[in-house]
Amino acid sequence: MVADTKKELGGLSQAEYDERLEVFEARINRGEKIEPADWMPEEYRQQLIRLIHVHANSEICGALPEGKWIPHAPSLKRKLALCAKVQDEVGHAQLLYRAAETLGPSREEMVESLIAGKSKFSNVFHYPTKTWADVAVIAWLIDAAAIINQSMMAEGSYGPYGRALKRICYEEAFHFKHGYEMCITLAGGTKVQHDMLQEALDRWWGPIMMFHGPSDKTSTHTGTLVRWKIKLKTNDEQRQQFLKQFVPKIFDLGLTVPDKGLRFDKEAKEWHYTEPDWEEFKRVVRGGGPMTKDRVETRRMAHEDGLWVRQALAAAAANRPVPMPAGK
Ligand SMILES: [Fe+2]
Ligand SMILES: [Fe+2]
Repeated sequence: MVADTKKELGGLSQAEYDERLEVFEARINRGEKIEPADWMPEEYRQQLIRLIHVHANSEICGALPEGKWIPHAPSLKRKLALCAKVQDEVGHAQLLYRAAETLGPSREEMVESLIAGKSKFSNVFHYPTKTWADVAVIAWLIDAAAIINQSMMAEGSYGPYGRALKRICYEEAFHFKHGYEMCITLAGGTKVQHDMLQEALDRWWGPIMMFHGPSDKTSTHTGTLVRWKIKLKTNDEQRQQFLKQFVPKIFDLGLTVPDKGLRFDKEAKEWHYTEPDWEEFKRVVRGGGPMTKDRVETRRMAHEDGLWVRQALAAAAANRPVPMPAGK
């Protein structure tokens, strides 16, 4: 492979670069993990930073649409479970910002870039949660889609990211069970509950079908990510896995899927579906979603509110007197 920029060569001659790249790719092909101190191509580092940063932003922004429903949970049991889930998601962000830090950028830089509206987060968290059934659909189907993605990425080639994801997946599995149980309850409840669940699924289906990212025909990053085993499956392969696992379960609950083009091809053993609106996807992840401004603004306020905690922790770590928070 010819490195086409000076930055990519990192001060090496082309021959030295090629030699290191060969060793690096051989290690990946043997299934070894790449660790922070190891040599890696600049593009590998940049792709990982981009991916982990977006993932961390998504966990922290993903806590918001569900967190809004904590005061309205229909029972103490639901409230406790939802509080625990929201807390877990924020913890996932913390683990992931730490994993991204091993590649260069600081957590502060990454959080600043999120609240300045300069970095992306998952398309699904740019939409509003209008009813309690949205909480059930998110916890079941969005967490399910996330598990498909994260359990695959956990086997990827970069050690710190894989280890963080293994820990995250244990918790995601609980979220998913809690979501499924909520959907079973609503689907088998009164007509109002059943209809509320169907209406939520109808609104979320489009964003969920976009969750794994652009179709393989148009995705610009997938080839490199798969070659270096950052990703082990393409976006379309993950989407297909999601459909195979969850469409039958959705039907079992007596629900319908709002896609007239959805059908199972018995010969090819795969689902056919209407191609998602990728223009909407691009517009949303670039900051044009119905709730984008609200999410970023809420994060900014939370970050400012937490400044005194960060200052107190830094002072305690440095053995300095802990400052009192202004106005607290
Ligand atoms: Fe999470
Ligand atoms: Fe989760």
